Amino acid sequence: MKHMHEFEIKKMLRMAAEAMEKAYAPYSDFRVGACLKASSGAYYLGCNIENAAYTPTVCAERSAMFKAIYEGERQFEGIAIISDSLNYTSPCGVCRQVLAEFCDPDMPVICADRDGNYKMLELCELIPMAFTKEDMEH
Ligand code: THU
Repeated sequence: MKHMHEFEIKKMLRMAAEAMEKAYAPYSDFRVGACLKASSGAYYLGCNIENAAYTPTVCAERSAMFKAIYEGERQFEGIAIISDSLNYTSPCGVCRQVLAEFCDPDMPVICADRDGNYKMLELCELIPMAFTKEDMEH
C-alpha cells in the first residue's frame, strides 16, 4: 500500500464532503462526493449528477475523473469518496473500471462513511484483473 499521510487523507475527505454538497440527486436522495488527487498536486472534485431517465446518471468518482482528464491530468495519487451513508462508500463497478483506465493498481482508494471514518484500499483490491489496454495487445 502506498503511504498517504493522515493529514492528507483528512484534507481530501474534507474536500470530498464539500463536493458532496453539489450533488444533484433528486431521485435517489443519496449524495456522494469525491476528491481525486493528481500527481501534479491538483485536486479534482466531483459529485453525483442524476437524470430523470436514471441511466445517464454519473457518479461522483467519474465526474471528478473526467474533469481531471479534461484538464490534461494522466497520473493520480489517490481518491477519497464520501456520502450520506452510515456505511463506507466504495466506487461502483463502472467507476472502478474508469479508475483502472488511468490509475495504477496500487493507488489508494479512501472509502468513508458520513462521519469521516474510512477504509483505505488499493485499486487492485476493488477491481482485480481489470481489463486494460494491455489486454488488447495482439
Ligand atoms: N453513486 C456515486 O456517485 N458513487 C458511488 O460510489 C456509488 C453510487 C451515486 C449514483 C447515484 O446517483 C446514487 O449514488 C445512488 O446510487
